[in-house]
Amino acid sequence: MTRKLRSRAWFDNPDNIDMTALYLERYLNFGLSLTELRSGKPIIGIAQTGSDLSPCNRHHLVLAERIREGIREAGGIALEFPVHPIQETGKRPTAALDRNLAYMALVELIYGYPLDGVVLTTGCDKTTPACLMAAATVDIPSIALSVGPMLNGWHKGERTGSGTIVWKAREMLAAGEIDDEGFIKLVASSAPSTGYCNTMGTATTMNSLAEVLGMMLPGTATIPAPHRDRQEAAYLTGKRIVEMVDEDLKPSDIMTRDSFLNAIVASSALGGSTNAPIHLAALARHVGVELSLKDWEEFGHAVPLLVNLQPAGEYLGEDFFRAGGVPAVVGELMRQGLIRESAMTVNGRTIGDNCRDAEIEDAAVIRSFDNPLVKDAGFLVLCGNLFDAAIMKTSVIGDEFRNRYLSDPDDPDAFEGPVVVFDGPEDYHARIDDPALGITDRHMLIMRGAGPIGYPGAAEVVNMRAPAYLLRDGVRALPCIGDGRQSGTSASPSILNASPEAAANGPLALVESGDRLRIDLKARQVTLLIGEDELAARREALEANGGYAYPESQTPWQEVQRALVGQLDSGAILEGAEKYRRIAATKGLP
Ligand code: FES
Ligand code: MG
Repeated sequence: MTRKLRSRAWFDNPDNIDMTALYLERYLNFGLSLTELRSGKPIIGIAQTGSDLSPCNRHHLVLAERIREGIREAGGIALEFPVHPIQETGKRPTAALDRNLAYMALVELIYGYPLDGVVLTTGCDKTTPACLMAAATVDIPSIALSVGPMLNGWHKGERTGSGTIVWKAREMLAAGEIDDEGFIKLVASSAPSTGYCNTMGTATTMNSLAEVLGMMLPGTATIPAPHRDRQEAAYLTGKRIVEMVDEDLKPSDIMTRDSFLNAIVASSALGGSTNAPIHLAALARHVGVELSLKDWEEFGHAVPLLVNLQPAGEYLGEDFFRAGGVPAVVGELMRQGLIRESAMTVNGRTIGDNCRDAEIEDAAVIRSFDNPLVKDAGFLVLCGNLFDAAIMKTSVIGDEFRNRYLSDPDDPDAFEGPVVVFDGPEDYHARIDDPALGITDRHMLIMRGAGPIGYPGAAEVVNMRAPAYLLRDGVRALPCIGDGRQSGTSASPSILNASPEAAANGPLALVESGDRLRIDLKARQVTLLIGEDELAARREALEANGGYAYPESQTPWQEVQRALVGQLDSGAILEGAEKYRRIAATKGLP
C-alpha cells in the first residue's frame, strides 16, 4: 500500500501522539494488538444491518464471520458495527421513516471512525438504499453484500411468495374464503427460512439493482440466504474490499449516470418494485448524478419484462438464482444493445466483461428477449392537474382490469369515473366496506395524506382493495391513486408516489369524493374534471383552514424528518444533505 490510508490519522499519527495513543488504547481492549493496529493494514468496516429486530437481514450476523475471514486473508482488519435497523414489516408507523435516519447515522459512522473501506450488508427493502446512499456521501471504497432471498414458500403444492400472498390472503379473508387462522397460516407459509422477501418486491429489486449498479460482486445478489454460495460470496466480498482500498476504487467511480441507466433498463426486465425510482433518485442525488423520473420512462418503458417472478409472474427467489440471476438478465439485455457496457463494477471489471457470457439457465424463469412476459414493461410517468408526477407499473395490469377499464374501442387507453377520497390508511380501513360510500366498479380510489410529510415517511398504502361486496362479485382491483407508495410485492396497477403530496398542499388536497377523474395512459395525463374557478375556490378555502391537516408527530425524528424531507419524485431525501458529497475527499478528515 503506497497511499496513506485515512485510518493512519487515528492509529499512526506522529504529529499527534497524544490522541494517537488514546485512539489506539480503546481498540486494544477487546484483543486487537498494537502491532496489528500500527501495521498499516487497511481497516475495513462491516456495516451490520442484521439484528433480532430485523429478521430479513439477521443472517448477516452469521455471514459477517465469513466476511471477516476474507478481509483477514487479504491483509485487512475488520471492525464490525451496527447500522440502525430497518424492518420493513415490523416498524411502525412505517419503515420508510427510517431510511433517511439510517443513512444519516451511517454517514456519521463511516466518516467519523478510522475506516478505509466498508462492507455494506444489504437486504430488506430500505437497508439497501440507506447503505448505498451513505457510502455515496462519504465515498470511501465500499462494497455491498446481499443477505439473499428466503427459500421459496409453499402451500398445498403452490409457491407462496412473501408479501404477494398477503394481498391474496386479505382478499380471501374479506370474501369469506378463509378464516383468521387460515389467513395467518397462508401468510406464514411464504417465509420458510432466513433471508428477505422471495418475491420481486423492493428487497429483490434493490439488491439486484445494487449488482447492476456495480456495487456488488457479479452473480451474488440473488443467491438464497441459506445457500452455501452465499457464505462463499461473503468471504469473497471481504477479500475484495481490501483490494478495492488498495486500488482506491470508490462509489463515485462506480455509480455513474451510465450505471444508473443500466439499473433503469434492468428494473423493467426484472419487473422491479415501484419503490426503485424513489431509492435510485435518492442515491443519484447523493452521489451527484443527474437522474430524473422522466429517465425511467425514456430508458425503461420500452424494455420488456423477462423475469417471471411474483407478483407479476409465477416463480420465486430460488428459481431466479437457479436460472442465472442478475448476470443472465443483464447478458440478455446486453445482446440487445441496451446496457452501457463500460460501466465499472466493484470487481474492477466492467459490467460488460462481467455479464457478456452469462446465459439464461431456465427460460421459463428468465425469458429471452424475443419471448417476454410483457412488452413495454417499464413505468409510465404521469402528470396533470392533480399532481406534477406519479408513476404507474403497467406490467401488472391484468386482463380483468384491462377488460373493465381499457376496453372502449374508441378510447382504449383511457378511462373516466367518480372518485372516493380517503385521508390516510386509517380512514380507508375504517370506511372501505361502508355501503354508504356507494363505491361501484366504475369508481377510482384516492389515498392522500400518505406521502413523506403526511404519514410521515410515506406509507405503502396506495394499493387499496375493493369493498367486500365488490370482491364477492369478482371485482378485485379498482384503480387507485395516491401520494403514498405501494409495496413492491403488490400486483395492483396503481398510480403512485404522486408528488407533491396533499400534506405539502398539492392539488391532491383539493379533490373531493364524487369528483370525476380522467386517466389517459397514452397521453400520460391524469385530469381532475373540475373547472378552474372551482379549484381556485377550494384552494382559497384550504388556505383559510391553514392547509391540509395531518396527524401530529409522535417522535422527535418524525418532526425532524417532516421538516427536511423532499417529495417522492426526487427521492424523498433530507433536503440539504445532498450538498455533502464525497466528504472523505472534499471535507478531509473529521
Ligand atoms: Fe424485509 Fe420483505 S419485509 S425484505
Ligand atoms: Mg415494501
